[in-house]
Amino acid sequence: MENSAVSVKGVEKKYGSFTAVSELDLDIMSGEFFGLLGPNGAGKTTSIHMMSSLVRPSKGEVSIFGIDVIKNPVSIRSKIGLVFQDSALDRQLSVWENLRFAGLLHNLPFNKVRERANYLLELFSLSEKKNKPVASLSGGQRRVLDIARGVMHEPKLLFLDEPTIGLDLPSRRKIWRYIHKLRSQTGMTVLLTTHYLEEAETCNRVAFLKNGKLVLTGNPKVLVKKLAQEILEIEALEPKKILDSLKVHLGPALQEFETLFFRLDKKNDKKLSTLIDETKHKFGSVIKRVIVRQPNLNDVFLWVNFK
Ligand SMILES: Nc1ncnc2c1ncn2[C@@H]1O[C@H](COP(=O)(O)OP(=O)(O)OP(=O)(O)O)[C@@H](O)[C@H]1O
Ligand SMILES: [Mg+2]
Repeated sequence: MENSAVSVKGVEKKYGSFTAVSELDLDIMSGEFFGLLGPNGAGKTTSIHMMSSLVRPSKGEVSIFGIDVIKNPVSIRSKIGLVFQDSALDRQLSVWENLRFAGLLHNLPFNKVRERANYLLELFSLSEKKNKPVASLSGGQRRVLDIARGVMHEPKLLFLDEPTIGLDLPSRRKIWRYIHKLRSQTGMTVLLTTHYLEEAETCNRVAFLKNGKLVLTGNPKVLVKKLAQEILEIEALEPKKILDSLKVHLGPALQEFETLFFRLDKKNDKKLSTLIDETKHKFGSVIKRVIVRQPNLNDVFLWVNFK
């Protein structure tokens, strides 16, 4: 495809007899903002590593901008940027030295390295830290620098593996603002993984991995809409009893500790308030909380991993 950024066909990765990723098919268009989602161990990092030539698939084909990754790993490396799940920075070196190292690794001329580093430090509000050792930066600043390191050579495609993990909300928001700035200035394609599902809601498309297999792909808003009209949450001391009583009316529920999540569609509307009143009456103080709310991508994630 002409404007294909990533094309993955029938990809599998085995470690001994263990299959980490299987039957993976994925097409990401140039300029897309794409989220690869799934629980711990689902195969997200392994997939990213196969797409970026760091891990060789046991089976299947991967191409980046039409170039076969397995046959031409070196020629795709100038086109991609990779921000690893674990920081790739040298903590003993200064901010500038880390960026200089990344630039020279990509064969950028020295004046270009300096220009690009200054531009990114300015864009990411890190200019004041330029000559400070990485060890003296906060976790959030280090993560931002990791991203700057990953885009020093102006890649057309950026892989971000958990770019915001462990950061507080303002730092996470800041990182996403920087990434969106970069995207809007360069049209860069971005493939991210995250456990913070609300961060993936602005993706053009997301794909859910489960046990190494793709189970659901689509636009986040469409997936949320398809999941349910609304979600009914009931927190109760004996959720199993409530579930037994309601499942004939509302279908299966997802249970997390003492809370049940039911998917509601429009058909339930008229009966719903009566049903809630009857349930409250029947179970009394066993029920701690009842709410009806809009569904979100986190609900989609939970239901994908429920079955
Ligand atoms: N080098 C390896 N050798 C053996 N098994 C591996 C190796 N790398 C990954 N795995 C296994 O493959 C599976 C997928 O791992 P992967 O790191 O891709 O998951 P992930 O979706 O990125 O998880 P997380 O959200 O925790 O980062 C896991 O069961 C993991 O233990
Ligand atoms: Mg991972």
